[in-house]
Amino acid sequence: MPEADSSASKDFRPDVPARSEAFFLKGSNELDWGAKNRLARIFSPKSGRTVMLAFDHGYFQGPTSGLERVDLNIVPLAPYADALMVTRGILRSSIPPTYGGGIVLRASGGPSILKELSDEELAVGIDDAVRLNVQAMAVQVFIGGKFETKSVHNLTRLIDMGNRHGIATLAVTAVGRDMVRDARYIGLATRICAELGASIVKTYYVPDGFDRVTAGCPVPIVMAGGKKLPEIDALRLAYSAVREGASGVDMGRNIFQSDNPVAMIQAVRAVVHQDFTPEQAHEVYLSLKSGEKHAAE
Ligand code: R5P
Repeated sequence: MPEADSSASKDFRPDVPARSEAFFLKGSNELDWGAKNRLARIFSPKSGRTVMLAFDHGYFQGPTSGLERVDLNIVPLAPYADALMVTRGILRSSIPPTYGGGIVLRASGGPSILKELSDEELAVGIDDAVRLNVQAMAVQVFIGGKFETKSVHNLTRLIDMGNRHGIATLAVTAVGRDMVRDARYIGLATRICAELGASIVKTYYVPDGFDRVTAGCPVPIVMAGGKKLPEIDALRLAYSAVREGASGVDMGRNIFQSDNPVAMIQAVRAVVHQDFTPEQAHEVYLSLKSGEKHAAE
Protein backbone atom coordinates (compact mmCIF):
# COMPACT_ATOMS: atom_id res chain seq x y z
CA MET A 1 0.00 0.00 0.00
CA PRO A 2 1.30 3.52 -0.74
CA GLU A 3 2.05 5.78 2.21
CA ALA A 4 -0.46 8.53 3.09
CA ASP A 5 0.14 11.64 0.98
CA SER A 6 0.39 14.33 3.66
CA SER A 7 2.48 16.91 1.80
CA ALA A 8 1.32 20.47 2.52
CA SER A 9 2.67 21.82 -0.75
CA LYS A 10 0.19 20.52 -3.34
CA ASP A 11 0.00 22.48 -6.58
CA PHE A 12 -3.69 23.16 -7.33
CA ARG A 13 -3.03 26.44 -9.21
CA PRO A 14 -6.45 27.92 -8.28
CA ASP A 15 -5.64 30.99 -10.38
CA VAL A 16 -5.43 28.92 -13.61
CA PRO A 17 -8.85 28.08 -15.12
CA ALA A 18 -9.33 24.48 -16.23
CA ARG A 19 -8.88 23.96 -19.95
CA SER A 20 -12.04 23.79 -22.00
CA GLU A 21 -11.41 23.68 -25.73
CA ALA A 22 -13.82 23.11 -28.57
CA PHE A 23 -13.13 19.93 -30.56
CA PHE A 24 -11.39 20.73 -33.84
CA LEU A 25 -13.76 18.88 -36.14
CA LYS A 26 -16.85 20.42 -37.68
CA GLY A 27 -20.13 19.30 -36.12
CA SER A 28 -18.46 16.95 -33.64
CA ASN A 29 -18.17 19.04 -30.49
CA GLU A 30 -21.11 17.49 -28.70
CA LEU A 31 -19.90 13.90 -29.11
CA ASP A 32 -18.58 11.84 -26.22
CA TRP A 33 -14.85 11.49 -25.48
CA GLY A 34 -14.56 8.07 -27.10
CA ALA A 35 -16.20 9.22 -30.32
CA LYS A 36 -13.98 12.30 -30.49
CA ASN A 37 -10.89 10.22 -29.76
CA ARG A 38 -11.78 7.91 -32.64
CA LEU A 39 -12.37 10.84 -35.01
CA ALA A 40 -8.98 12.28 -34.00
CA ARG A 41 -7.44 9.01 -35.24
CA ILE A 42 -9.00 9.63 -38.67
CA PHE A 43 -8.59 13.41 -38.98
CA SER A 44 -5.32 15.12 -38.10
CA PRO A 45 -5.92 17.47 -35.15
CA LYS A 46 -3.17 19.67 -36.62
CA SER A 47 -4.65 20.29 -40.08
CA GLY A 48 -8.23 19.20 -39.29
CA ARG A 49 -8.10 17.05 -42.43
CA THR A 50 -7.54 13.44 -43.47
CA VAL A 51 -5.93 11.44 -46.23
CA MET A 52 -8.01 8.28 -46.13
CA LEU A 53 -6.95 5.46 -48.42
CA ALA A 54 -9.92 3.53 -49.83
CA PHE A 55 -9.31 -0.03 -50.97
CA ASP A 56 -12.62 -1.67 -50.15
CA HIS A 57 -13.51 -2.06 -53.86
CA GLY A 58 -13.29 -5.84 -53.69
CA TYR A 59 -16.49 -6.05 -51.66
CA PHE A 60 -18.50 -5.70 -54.86
CA GLN A 61 -15.99 -5.99 -57.70
CA GLY A 62 -13.51 -8.64 -56.60
CA PRO A 63 -9.77 -8.28 -57.29
CA THR A 64 -9.67 -4.71 -58.62
CA SER A 65 -6.61 -3.62 -60.62
CA GLY A 66 -4.00 -2.48 -58.14
CA LEU A 67 -5.55 -4.51 -55.30
CA GLU A 68 -4.62 -8.00 -56.48
CA ARG A 69 -2.23 -8.33 -53.53
CA VAL A 70 -3.14 -5.96 -50.72
CA ASP A 71 -0.19 -7.20 -48.69
CA LEU A 72 2.16 -6.08 -51.46
CA ASN A 73 0.26 -3.15 -53.01
CA ILE A 74 -1.37 -1.42 -50.04
CA VAL A 75 0.57 -2.22 -46.88
CA PRO A 76 3.56 -0.08 -48.03
CA LEU A 77 1.16 2.89 -48.42
CA ALA A 78 -0.40 2.54 -44.97
CA PRO A 79 2.21 4.64 -43.11
CA TYR A 80 1.28 7.63 -45.32
CA ALA A 81 -2.49 7.30 -44.76
CA ASP A 82 -4.31 8.90 -41.82
CA ALA A 83 -6.94 6.19 -42.12
CA LEU A 84 -7.68 3.06 -44.14
CA MET A 85 -11.10 2.28 -45.60
CA VAL A 86 -11.23 -1.48 -45.76
CA THR A 87 -13.40 -4.59 -45.49
CA ARG A 88 -13.06 -6.81 -42.44
CA GLY A 89 -11.81 -9.71 -44.54
CA ILE A 90 -8.87 -7.72 -45.86
CA LEU A 91 -8.27 -6.05 -42.50
CA ARG A 92 -7.92 -9.38 -40.70
CA SER A 93 -6.00 -11.17 -43.41
CA SER A 94 -3.67 -8.51 -44.77
CA ILE A 95 -3.27 -5.40 -42.58
CA PRO A 96 -0.73 -5.63 -39.75
CA PRO A 97 -2.43 -5.01 -36.37
CA THR A 98 0.45 -2.67 -35.54
CA TYR A 99 -1.04 -0.10 -37.94
CA GLY A 100 -1.61 3.02 -35.82
CA GLY A 101 -3.93 5.14 -37.99
CA GLY A 102 -7.71 5.06 -38.19
CA ILE A 103 -9.70 2.15 -39.55
CA VAL A 104 -12.93 2.87 -41.42
CA LEU A 105 -14.64 -0.45 -41.83
CA ARG A 106 -16.81 -1.17 -44.86
CA ALA A 107 -20.04 -2.28 -43.22
CA SER A 108 -22.44 -2.70 -46.15
CA GLY A 109 -22.53 -5.14 -49.02
CA GLY A 110 -24.54 -7.76 -50.86
CA PRO A 111 -24.78 -7.24 -54.60
CA SER A 112 -21.78 -7.71 -56.87
CA ILE A 113 -21.17 -5.69 -60.04
CA LEU A 114 -23.34 -8.29 -61.77
CA LYS A 115 -26.46 -7.14 -59.90
CA GLU A 116 -28.34 -4.01 -58.80
CA LEU A 117 -25.75 -2.26 -56.61
CA SER A 118 -28.22 -0.26 -54.53
CA ASP A 119 -29.72 -3.46 -53.11
CA GLU A 120 -27.28 -3.54 -50.17
CA GLU A 121 -27.68 -4.80 -46.63
CA LEU A 122 -25.60 -4.18 -43.55
CA ALA A 123 -22.76 -6.69 -43.70
CA VAL A 124 -21.02 -6.33 -40.33
CA GLY A 125 -22.31 -6.69 -36.77
CA ILE A 126 -21.38 -4.14 -34.15
CA ASP A 127 -19.68 -6.78 -31.98
CA ASP A 128 -17.20 -7.51 -34.72
CA ALA A 129 -16.58 -3.79 -35.37
CA VAL A 130 -15.80 -3.35 -31.65
CA ARG A 131 -13.59 -6.45 -31.68
CA LEU A 132 -11.66 -5.01 -34.62
CA ASN A 133 -11.26 -1.71 -32.72
CA VAL A 134 -12.36 0.38 -35.70
CA GLN A 135 -12.79 4.14 -35.57
CA ALA A 136 -15.69 4.33 -38.03
CA MET A 137 -17.99 2.18 -40.15
CA ALA A 138 -18.91 3.01 -43.75
CA VAL A 139 -22.19 2.44 -45.54
CA GLN A 140 -23.31 3.23 -49.09
CA VAL A 141 -26.35 5.49 -49.48
CA PHE A 142 -28.11 5.53 -52.84
CA ILE A 143 -30.19 8.71 -52.96
CA GLY A 144 -32.39 8.48 -56.03
CA GLY A 145 -31.38 4.85 -56.52
CA LYS A 146 -33.71 1.88 -56.87
CA PHE A 147 -33.30 0.86 -53.24
CA GLU A 148 -32.96 4.36 -51.81
CA THR A 149 -35.11 3.77 -48.71
CA LYS A 150 -33.39 0.49 -47.89
CA SER A 151 -29.94 2.08 -48.12
CA VAL A 152 -31.05 5.01 -45.95
CA HIS A 153 -32.39 2.50 -43.44
CA ASN A 154 -29.01 0.73 -43.48
CA LEU A 155 -27.41 4.10 -42.66
CA THR A 156 -29.68 4.88 -39.74
CA ARG A 157 -29.37 1.38 -38.26
CA LEU A 158 -25.61 1.56 -38.49
CA ILE A 159 -25.60 4.99 -36.83
CA ASP A 160 -27.70 3.64 -33.94
CA MET A 161 -25.37 0.66 -33.55
CA GLY A 162 -22.24 2.81 -33.75
CA ASN A 163 -23.50 5.52 -31.41
CA ARG A 164 -23.93 2.96 -28.64
CA HIS A 165 -20.17 2.41 -28.75
CA GLY A 166 -18.88 5.82 -29.85
CA ILE A 167 -18.00 4.51 -33.31
CA ALA A 168 -18.53 7.04 -36.09
CA THR A 169 -20.51 6.31 -39.25
CA LEU A 170 -19.26 7.43 -42.65
CA ALA A 171 -22.02 7.72 -45.25
CA VAL A 172 -20.85 7.20 -48.84
CA THR A 173 -23.10 8.96 -51.34
CA ALA A 174 -23.23 6.57 -54.29
CA VAL A 175 -24.13 8.08 -57.65
CA GLY A 176 -25.81 5.77 -60.17
CA ARG A 177 -24.32 5.52 -63.67
CA ASP A 178 -27.14 7.45 -65.33
CA MET A 179 -27.50 10.12 -62.62
CA VAL A 180 -26.36 13.73 -62.96
CA ARG A 181 -23.49 14.59 -60.65
CA ASP A 182 -24.08 18.26 -59.88
CA ALA A 183 -24.05 20.43 -56.79
CA ARG A 184 -27.81 20.22 -56.45
CA TYR A 185 -27.80 16.41 -56.33
CA ILE A 186 -24.63 16.12 -54.22
CA GLY A 187 -25.98 18.81 -51.87
CA LEU A 188 -29.21 16.83 -51.49
CA ALA A 189 -27.47 13.50 -50.83
CA THR A 190 -24.85 14.82 -48.40
CA ARG A 191 -27.35 16.85 -46.40
CA ILE A 192 -29.70 13.88 -46.06
CA CYS A 193 -26.84 11.73 -44.72
CA ALA A 194 -25.83 14.40 -42.19
CA GLU A 195 -29.42 15.06 -41.10
CA LEU A 196 -29.89 11.35 -40.44
CA GLY A 197 -26.85 11.32 -38.16
CA ALA A 198 -23.73 10.43 -40.18
CA SER A 199 -20.54 11.73 -38.55
CA ILE A 200 -18.65 11.95 -41.87
CA VAL A 201 -19.92 12.09 -45.45
CA LYS A 202 -17.98 10.94 -48.49
CA THR A 203 -18.94 12.44 -51.81
CA TYR A 204 -17.64 13.47 -55.22
CA TYR A 205 -16.23 16.88 -56.05
CA VAL A 206 -18.38 18.92 -58.40
CA PRO A 207 -16.81 21.94 -60.11
CA ASP A 208 -19.71 24.35 -59.78
CA GLY A 209 -21.00 24.85 -56.25
CA PHE A 210 -18.96 22.42 -54.12
CA ASP A 211 -18.40 25.20 -51.58
CA ARG A 212 -22.16 25.37 -51.11
CA VAL A 213 -22.31 21.59 -50.68
CA THR A 214 -19.68 21.65 -47.89
CA ALA A 215 -21.26 24.74 -46.28
CA GLY A 216 -24.65 23.05 -46.25
CA CYS A 217 -23.34 19.87 -44.64
CA PRO A 218 -22.90 20.26 -40.86
CA VAL A 219 -20.35 17.43 -40.56
CA PRO A 220 -17.02 16.86 -42.36
CA ILE A 221 -17.11 15.95 -46.04
CA VAL A 222 -14.29 13.87 -47.52
CA MET A 223 -13.82 13.86 -51.26
CA ALA A 224 -14.21 10.56 -53.12
CA GLY A 225 -11.56 9.95 -55.74
CA GLY A 226 -13.33 8.18 -58.58
CA LYS A 227 -11.80 6.59 -61.63
CA LYS A 228 -8.08 6.91 -62.35
CA LEU A 229 -6.97 10.27 -63.76
CA PRO A 230 -3.53 11.61 -64.65
CA GLU A 231 -1.77 12.44 -61.35
CA ILE A 232 -1.86 16.21 -61.89
CA ASP A 233 -5.64 16.12 -62.47
CA ALA A 234 -6.26 14.04 -59.34
CA LEU A 235 -4.16 16.53 -57.35
CA ARG A 236 -6.21 19.39 -58.83
CA LEU A 237 -9.41 17.68 -57.69
CA ALA A 238 -8.08 17.22 -54.16
CA TYR A 239 -6.85 20.82 -54.07
CA SER A 240 -10.20 22.23 -55.22
CA ALA A 241 -12.12 20.06 -52.77
CA VAL A 242 -10.13 21.11 -49.69
CA ARG A 243 -10.09 24.77 -50.76
CA GLU A 244 -13.86 24.58 -51.04
CA GLY A 245 -14.39 23.13 -47.61
CA ALA A 246 -13.71 19.38 -47.74
CA SER A 247 -12.03 17.99 -44.62
CA GLY A 248 -9.74 15.85 -46.74
CA VAL A 249 -10.00 13.02 -49.22
CA ASP A 250 -10.91 9.35 -49.29
CA MET A 251 -9.11 8.22 -52.44
CA GLY A 252 -8.49 4.81 -53.86
CA ARG A 253 -7.73 4.23 -57.53
CA ASN A 254 -6.05 7.60 -58.02
CA ILE A 255 -3.49 6.48 -55.46
CA PHE A 256 -3.09 2.72 -55.78
CA GLN A 257 -3.38 2.70 -59.61
CA SER A 258 -0.80 5.49 -59.94
CA ASP A 259 2.53 4.72 -61.64
CA ASN A 260 4.06 5.28 -58.23
CA PRO A 261 1.50 4.93 -55.41
CA VAL A 262 3.98 5.76 -52.60
CA ALA A 263 4.90 9.02 -54.34
CA MET A 264 1.28 9.82 -55.16
CA ILE A 265 -0.05 9.40 -51.63
CA GLN A 266 2.66 11.74 -50.35
CA ALA A 267 1.77 14.29 -53.02
CA VAL A 268 -1.89 14.06 -51.95
CA ARG A 269 -0.78 14.59 -48.34
CA ALA A 270 1.09 17.73 -49.38
CA VAL A 271 -2.14 19.14 -50.85
CA VAL A 272 -4.38 18.08 -47.97
CA HIS A 273 -2.15 18.81 -44.98
CA GLN A 274 0.29 21.41 -46.26
CA ASP A 275 -1.91 23.37 -48.69
CA PHE A 276 0.47 22.75 -51.58
CA THR A 277 -0.88 23.80 -54.97
CA PRO A 278 -1.48 20.96 -57.45
CA GLU A 279 1.64 22.02 -59.36
CA GLN A 280 3.81 22.02 -56.22
CA ALA A 281 2.41 18.65 -55.18
CA HIS A 282 3.01 17.27 -58.65
CA GLU A 283 6.65 18.31 -58.30
CA VAL A 284 6.70 16.32 -55.03
CA TYR A 285 5.25 13.36 -56.91
CA LEU A 286 7.83 13.57 -59.70
CA SER A 287 10.77 14.02 -57.37
CA LEU A 288 9.71 11.13 -55.12
CA LYS A 289 9.17 9.01 -58.21
CA SER A 290 12.70 9.76 -59.28
CA GLY A 291 14.01 8.76 -55.87
CA GLU A 292 14.31 12.06 -54.00
CA LYS A 293 13.00 12.46 -50.44
CA HIS A 294 10.18 14.77 -49.34
CA ALA A 295 9.66 16.13 -45.83
CA ALA A 296 6.03 15.09 -45.51
CA GLU A 297 3.67 16.23 -42.76
C1 R5P B 1 -17.34 3.41 -53.08
O1 R5P B 1 -18.18 2.94 -53.80
C2 R5P B 1 -16.41 2.51 -52.41
O2 R5P B 1 -16.14 2.89 -51.11
C3 R5P B 1 -15.20 2.33 -53.22
O3 R5P B 1 -14.75 1.04 -53.11
C4 R5P B 1 -14.10 3.29 -52.98
O4 R5P B 1 -14.30 4.15 -51.93
C5 R5P B 1 -13.88 4.07 -54.19
O5 R5P B 1 -12.68 4.79 -54.13
P1 R5P B 1 -12.12 5.44 -55.45
O6 R5P B 1 -13.30 5.87 -56.27
O7 R5P B 1 -11.30 6.61 -55.00
O8 R5P B 1 -11.29 4.42 -56.15
